[in-house]
Amino acid sequence: ESVKLWGGRFSGSTDPVMEKFNASLPFDKIMWKQDIQGSIAYAKALSRANLLTEDECNTIIEGLETVRNEWAQEIFETQPQDEDIHTANERRLKELVGEVGGKVHTGRSRNDQVAVDMKLWLREHLTEIGEHLTILARVLVGRADREKAVLMPGYTHLQRAQPIRWSHLLLSHAWPLVTDLERLQELYSRVNVCPLGSGALAGNPFHIDREQLAQDLGFRSITENSLQAVSDRDYVVEFLFWSSLVGSHLSRLAEDVILYSTREFGYIKLSDAYATGSSLMPQKKNPDSMELIRGKAGTLAGNLCGFLAVLKGLPSTYNKDLQEDKLKMFETASIMKGLLQVAAGAVETMEVDAAACQKGLTEEMLATDIAYYLVKKGMAFRTAHGKAGEVVKLAEELGCPFSKIPLSELVKVSSLFADDVSSVWNFEHSVEQYEAAGGTALSSINVQITKVTAFLDNF
Ligand code: ARG
Repeated sequence: ESVKLWGGRFSGSTDPVMEKFNASLPFDKIMWKQDIQGSIAYAKALSRANLLTEDECNTIIEGLETVRNEWAQEIFETQPQDEDIHTANERRLKELVGEVGGKVHTGRSRNDQVAVDMKLWLREHLTEIGEHLTILARVLVGRADREKAVLMPGYTHLQRAQPIRWSHLLLSHAWPLVTDLERLQELYSRVNVCPLGSGALAGNPFHIDREQLAQDLGFRSITENSLQAVSDRDYVVEFLFWSSLVGSHLSRLAEDVILYSTREFGYIKLSDAYATGSSLMPQKKNPDSMELIRGKAGTLAGNLCGFLAVLKGLPSTYNKDLQEDKLKMFETASIMKGLLQVAAGAVETMEVDAAACQKGLTEEMLATDIAYYLVKKGMAFRTAHGKAGEVVKLAEELGCPFSKIPLSELVKVSSLFADDVSSVWNFEHSVEQYEAAGGTALSSINVQITKVTAFLDNF
């Protein structure tokens, strides 16, 4: 006599190693609340379709509430035969209310049950993750607003390029998060479609009102094809992709912080709360928080690739391969929460060393500005670029910064150089040139801060 829910047609028992291999309870019990939520709504749907009397329905709901309390109080006792959260809850329900508990699964399959549980679970966690992301974006914008006066070297290819405002860099990390939040909203709306009522694959034969059922569970609509509904894990893939994209944004931020907090750059000091020391070298302060963010971004991308590989090649409808979805989804959600909170905390508490940033600015970074100076006097940019190059060479030959080159030497390069060239040797003047929308001038920074803040306030 088998105690398994599907044991009717079996005579042999499951190999113990297979039993463990097959079980998802150790990880899917995390969805205990959603599983009960789905079952209560489904019992009501059955009752509306006259498959349960009012009494039966109430008995089942009370039983399910008891099961829920057992989980909440951490006194739910799992059995070795409990395959997953669905079988565990149903087994316990029947122990509590007897045979009538067996009616809750009428027309339902674990296939549509697991799909609805996962969506209910993900919905809650997307909301929470979105909140953490919003906090991080606010931290970046807040700093950008407070530290607008700080100028620093901007880099391309990690080579000194042009002076920028530190706020512009902070905002460059906030903007991708704005787009990530937009993507999250779209993802949420696709998760928010109810698959329950699809049965194992063919649909539901008992005239249940799927629209009402979906509404009871707070979904915006229902899936339109039962075969697709039981195997659709696109929302999981999307969540894994979304997470790895956010991960790569945070990894870039982390890499900037790691570099800029080295002695070699010295622009940033991480707070002790987000750094660790060395067990051997007493002087060390390591940016572990940032390295973990960078590293976990790799794990997130791996989860995406790994799960896509699981899906590729599956035939239609439910196959047990799909059980792998939960490991990826749960791990990814938990990584995301840690990642975002640590990033927000570290960015909020780190210090920017304005003097070191200023010291990092060297006159060679004004070479472009020399060309712009000549352009403003009427020279074609391409010619001006060449002339500015000659000035760079001149400075090297004379072994002095641009500002120390005598005007008498500059006019030999171009007769357009005059006394007013002295205004070029000024980093504030340099960044203030970039006033067009999206540039590093103060006016553009202010517009960006207003826009990001407005987006976050309305999110
Ligand atoms: N534990 C399973 C999963 O996570 C639930 C669905 C099982 N369905 C089935 N017919 N074996 O995917």
